[in-house]
Amino acid sequence: MKLNRNMEISLISSSPESTQEIGKRIGAKIQPGDVLLLMGDLGAGKTTITQGILWGLGGTEHARSPTFVLVNEYPARLTLYHMDLYRLNSIDEIEDLGLDDYLYGDDVCVVEWADKATGYFPVNHAIVRLEAIDSQTRRITISSESVDLDRLVMALESCADG
Ligand SMILES: Nc1ncnc2c1ncn2[C@@H]1O[C@H](COP(=O)(O)OP(=O)(O)O)[C@@H](O)[C@H]1O
Ligand SMILES: [Mg+2]
Repeated sequence: MKLNRNMEISLISSSPESTQEIGKRIGAKIQPGDVLLLMGDLGAGKTTITQGILWGLGGTEHARSPTFVLVNEYPARLTLYHMDLYRLNSIDEIEDLGLDDYLYGDDVCVVEWADKATGYFPVNHAIVRLEAIDSQTRRITISSESVDLDRLVMALESCADG
């Protein structure tokens, strides 16, 4: 039996720095094995929020879009595997990449364009959806698909716009 539950918070960000700050709060609460699926159009801010997530995890590098290499690895309190499925066209192609060791491991995965293969990921994941409202404004919605990941949603409670 799967209980149909999910906890969700929506925030407005009015600058890239504010999006990074939201990422930092999420990163600070990340635990081993967490999988975050990032969804949103090109330029929505998926890479920008990942930069903050890495800093919140204690990393110091500036995360860049892994579009051409598919997976970037960043050292931090836990290793952050930053993936981007933009260039992939089918679930088969995604399966062929052999990402399971990362996705079911004890580190952390952040996946851009995860909407290309939602069914492929571990059931326990959090979704971060980014939507451009205008050139500087983004709506960021985080939802958890498991009780364990509610802590990532609650990390943003104090900055929710209600
Ligand atoms: N509030 C905001 N949050 C995030 N990015 C923003 C915001 N306002 C403007 N931007 C700009 O939007 C772009 C987002 O790019 P990026 O994070 O690479 O998007 P994606 O990875 O989703 O394609 C950057 O150029 C960034 O400076
Ligand atoms: Mg990107």
